[in-house]
Amino acid sequence: MRADVLFGAAEAVPADVAGRVVVVIDVLRASTTIAVALANGARAVIPLASAEEVVLRSKSFERSEVRLAAERKMLAVPGMDLGNSPTEFTREALDGKTVLLATTNGTGALLAMQGAREVVVGAFVNFSAISVLLRAALRGGTDVTLVCAGRDRQYSLEDAACAGRYVRFMAKHYPALTYNDAARSAAVLERRYADDLTRLFIDAEHGQALREAGFAADLEICAALDAYPVVPVYQDRQITKIGPDRER
Ligand code: MLT
Repeated sequence: MRADVLFGAAEAVPADVAGRVVVVIDVLRASTTIAVALANGARAVIPLASAEEVVLRSKSFERSEVRLAAERKMLAVPGMDLGNSPTEFTREALDGKTVLLATTNGTGALLAMQGAREVVVGAFVNFSAISVLLRAALRGGTDVTLVCAGRDRQYSLEDAACAGRYVRFMAKHYPALTYNDAARSAAVLERRYADDLTRLFIDAEHGQALREAGFAADLEICAALDAYPVVPVYQDRQITKIGPDRER
């Protein structure tokens, strides 16, 4: 069995994801925001390519049923209900609503994952929930690909470290696992930050940029390991959570 890492969604070719369980990782902040939204009662999150698409798609909903969320270069797009800060995605704001979401990196990465057997959204806040699914996938004979969204098509330290945490979990539970050099590198990197995610976000360019832009509270949420134990599954063009109210 294989578990491979891609350090950017743009690297993905159909052979990288075909028939596999794919985890899209965008720790700062889309993966975290999506997990928080579903844990806080959002009915679904629909990833879209742009704020314009969010507005267009909203016309097929009753206004009271939907929340418009879009972010560009870390900031909320004017005219939206929400940006991409997980602090905004509260139960009061979202319970039972469908979130239409467009972000600079994360939603584009999800939209690029065509042909996978299953696409899930991974971060630190739902690490263990996703890890259980990955262990079951390997035991069931399905290979895994971890896709880092990256930032503005560049390597992302925090996404790679999160991917490395998943690789180390799978390697521990599946000693026969084989993986690519990117997965091996991510696992080595993860050892550097394993128990100090605050340090990771201090070192990461994106973490520094978010802190300078006034989003320090977001970094605390994004570093809260297993704080939102949901499995967001991207299927039929929407992301919903696996759970008692949803058959796999
Ligand atoms: C993302 O895709 O997560 C965003 O572009 C990054 C952010 O919200 O800061």
